[in-house]
Formats: sequence, structure tokens, C-alpha cells
Amino acid sequence: MKIEGQSALVTGGASGLGEATARELARLGAKVAVLDRNLEQAKKVAADIGGTAFACDITDTASVEAALAAAAEAHGPARILMNVAGIGSAKRIVGKDGSAAPLEDFARVIQVNLIGTYNVSRLFAARCAKLEALDGGERGVMMFTASVAAFDGQVGQQAYSASKGGLVGMTLPMARDLAQHGIRVCTVAPGIFATPLLLELPEPVQQSLAASIPFPPRLGKPSEFAELACHIVTNGHLNGEVIRLDGALRMAPR
Ligand SMILES: NC(=O)c1ccc[n+]([C@@H]2O[C@H](COP(=O)([O-])OP(=O)(O)OC[C@H]3O[C@@H](n4cnc5c(N)ncnc54)[C@H](O)[C@@H]3O)[C@@H](O)[C@H]2O)c1
Repeated sequence: MKIEGQSALVTGGASGLGEATARELARLGAKVAVLDRNLEQAKKVAADIGGTAFACDITDTASVEAALAAAAEAHGPARILMNVAGIGSAKRIVGKDGSAAPLEDFARVIQVNLIGTYNVSRLFAARCAKLEALDGGERGVMMFTASVAAFDGQVGQQAYSASKGGLVGMTLPMARDLAQHGIRVCTVAPGIFATPLLLELPEPVQQSLAASIPFPPRLGKPSEFAELACHIVTNGHLNGEVIRLDGALRMAPR
């Protein structure tokens, strides 16, 4: 699908990988709706790229429905959905004091990363399936943001890895399901990227993370993630696939 002129949605577009994706889509001529629970920051990004910001909590159906409707009103019906919103977590299953990890922590990460992504995707897909098909029968395309932790999660990453592994598992069945509507689904599993969270870590920690990446031995650039996200849109034969973007990194147990 050609990006120019399309209406696109980016969840988590206020920061990090989502922000870079929103910027790249806009650079390539899309009308971009920045969907984030951090409206203030989303507005700054949107103002910078000539897009529009919408407050949206991906776990809250009413909030997502309102944001999709408002974005369609502002930019026309969206054919591109970039699911980038997500949260991290690190918790050992048995704590230092011998107590079991709180179930709420596990549930919260699954709720945002997996169920939230599914929530936006199902509501987007229902809208997109009603649109007129483009050349070749295509109606839309969506991307999930997993993580290499879906495959080689580290100590303490049970919840995060399970949530991202859920996105990996959901990719093919959703692509198969939506094939009849001409909607493609792909997932990117990033390694370690230089987003605000990582850039706050002390320099030596950043350097040691970078050194763990075979080549190039540096943190990924958010713009590299954004380029791949946009390539998924333009390459009509990419579907049902999970792409690692990690400089050949395989994470160690800790
Ligand atoms: N940065 C990395 O190295 C890395 C590596 C692998 C995977 N990822 C994944 O990439 C995605 C983006 O990561 P990032 O580093 O850019 O993080 P970030 O914290 O910079 O950005 C995440 C954005 O998502 C938004 N968000 C969180 N929960 C939300 C919700 N319920 N509803 C709406 N918006 C919500 C936040 O407000 C924030 O703007 C996440 O899914 C993360 O798990 C990041």
C-alpha cells in the first residue's frame, strides 16, 4: 500500500518507537493520528508532524472507539494501524523475601501489551473491512510491536515475555482471519532500542547493552524501527510474519 495520502493510526505515538513511526509515516505523506494515554506529549508530536493527537487508553474500549471515530472524522477512515503502545515490567516470580510475585502485576502487563493491542486491532479491523478495496484487493495493514523477549526473555520477564509472545502467536491467525478482508498483519520484534527509557540508564549500562549486540554493536535507532514499520505497509506480500529487528542479539538469561 502506498503510504502517501493514507490515514494512519499510531498507538503509543507520543514517545519512543511510536513517535519515530508517527514521524516517518508523516514524512512519507500519511495523515497521522497519534493515539496515546499521554495526551500532552501526543499533542507535541502531532503538532510537529502536522498530525492530530487523541487521548486513548488501549485497554479501554470506549476510549479506543472514541479515538478511532475522532481520527476518522479528522483524517478519513484509517487503513494503517501501528500498534506500538506498551509497558515493561521486571519481577521475579519468587521475591527476595520468599513471597510470590503479585498476580496483579502479571495481569496488568498482559492487559496493556496483549489485550490492549488486540482491542485496538479488532476495532480497527471492523472499520477497515467496510472500506472499499484498493488495487489488488487490499484494504488495510496493521503491525504489532512484540520484543525479542517473546523468544529469549530474561530473568524476571515472565509477564513481559508472555505478553509479547502472545502478540507473536496472534500474528498468523489474525492474518489468516483478515485475509478475506484484504487486511495484512505483521509483527516486529525489536531488540534494544535507544528510546527515552533506555537513554535514562547510566552510560556504562547503555554501553554494556550495546556491546551485547553482535552487529552493529550499538542500540537500535527508533528511526530504524520506523523504517521497517513503513516497509511493512508498502510491501504488499509481507503478511502473517514476525520480523526480529535486533542486530543478531540473543538475550542472555540475565
Ligand atoms: N525500546 C526498546 O528497546 C524496545 C524493545 C522491544 C520492544 N519494545 C516495545 O516497543 C513499544 C514502544 O516502546 P518504547 O521504548 O518506545 O516505550 P515508550 O515508553 O517510550 O513509549 C510507549 C508509549 O506507549 C504509551 N502507552 C502505554 N500504555 C498505554 C495505554 N494503555 N494506552 C495508550 N498508550 C499507552 C505511553 O504513554 C508511551 O507514550 C512497547 O510496546 C515496547 O514493549 C521496545
